[in-house]
Amino acid sequence: MKILMVCLGNICRSPLAEGILKHKLGDDYFVDSAGTINYHEGSQPDERSIRTATKNGIDISTQKSRPITKSDFDKFDLIFCMDKNNYKDVLKLADDSQKHKVRLILDNELEVPDPYFGGIDGFDKVYNMLDESCEIIAEKIKNNSI
Ligand code: 4NP
Repeated sequence: MKILMVCLGNICRSPLAEGILKHKLGDDYFVDSAGTINYHEGSQPDERSIRTATKNGIDISTQKSRPITKSDFDKFDLIFCMDKNNYKDVLKLADDSQKHKVRLILDNELEVPDPYFGGIDGFDKVYNMLDESCEIIAEKIKNNSI
């Protein structure tokens, strides 16, 4: 099972989601992340995401931002998007037969807010939202019920 986390820049939310889900699933699963834009390609996660992850015992500092590509839809089984714009942009790249792999990470059409232009509080909030949703996703993946 291979899981891809997607946000806009791949420096704030999806690197956290990657780190958290990896931490919960362990080495038997492949978890990666990407952005819908290439503006930050090659960059480390935002320093505030690194700090928030570190505070919670997770090291995301070696991740590098990259844009999502068409080949990701073959490679990954599930692609989780942080908000509805990401979801829409990712679906545009998918072939019809691949669209079922693409999901919003939160249930009930809720979104993980973009914390980039706000303060550190926003990163704590995003961390907590992702920790909760990744807990549910990890359980479902382990039970084969996703
Ligand atoms: P992310 O946050 O999508 O969670 O990585 C953002 C990162 C960069 C920008 C916006 C959001 N930006 O405008 O450069």
